[in-house]
Amino acid sequence: MTERIQPLITATDIAQRLQTLAGEIAPHIGATPLIVAILKGSLVFCADLIRQLGYRGVRPTLDVMVLSSYGCDTSSSGHIQVQLDCREEIKDRQVLLLDDILDSGLTLHFASQQLRQRGAATLHTAVLLDKPERRKIAMQADFVGFTIPNLFVVGYGIDYAERYRELPDIGQLMQE
Ligand code: IMP
Ligand code: MG
Repeated sequence: MTERIQPLITATDIAQRLQTLAGEIAPHIGATPLIVAILKGSLVFCADLIRQLGYRGVRPTLDVMVLSSYGCDTSSSGHIQVQLDCREEIKDRQVLLLDDILDSGLTLHFASQQLRQRGAATLHTAVLLDKPERRKIAMQADFVGFTIPNLFVVGYGIDYAERYRELPDIGQLMQE
């Protein structure tokens, strides 16, 4: 089987959208929020978004959670593992939770619950990509970069079996 990447969203489109997205998010998270990025997929998204938020006067603290549910497959196993937990105090913080893709909704739901249980004063969620057709539970992100159809995508930090994260554009993985 050969793999090919069909272009979907260019690096330029992503950069433009993140400028707007940061403007949408900034008024809601206070001047010194805690940003929690769900790794590894949202690493590149987070890196670009915090700089866009910075241009708007936001001075965040950054933390990460490593969660994994996919293994080496293209559909979620539904079982979420905390591989590395965040270490910042969550209680009474204004928290912005970031993920790369909102798919079944299980990951973002799980991470949101964790942060709420730890006493976040406010919790907002932002995802780069939303695939609403794939939802297994009712879950919406407060902020969405792009809504896309039910395609398996890679690039801009998003992987297939740990590959393709370095690609600057987002594309559909075609297995032929
Ligand atoms: P959910 O728990 O099903 O919503 O899955 C969210 C996670 O699944 C994302 O953070 C991604 O890491 C992964 N994922 C979902 N769709 C894709 C995709 O199209 N390509 C690569 N990873 C994906
Ligand atoms: Mg992944």
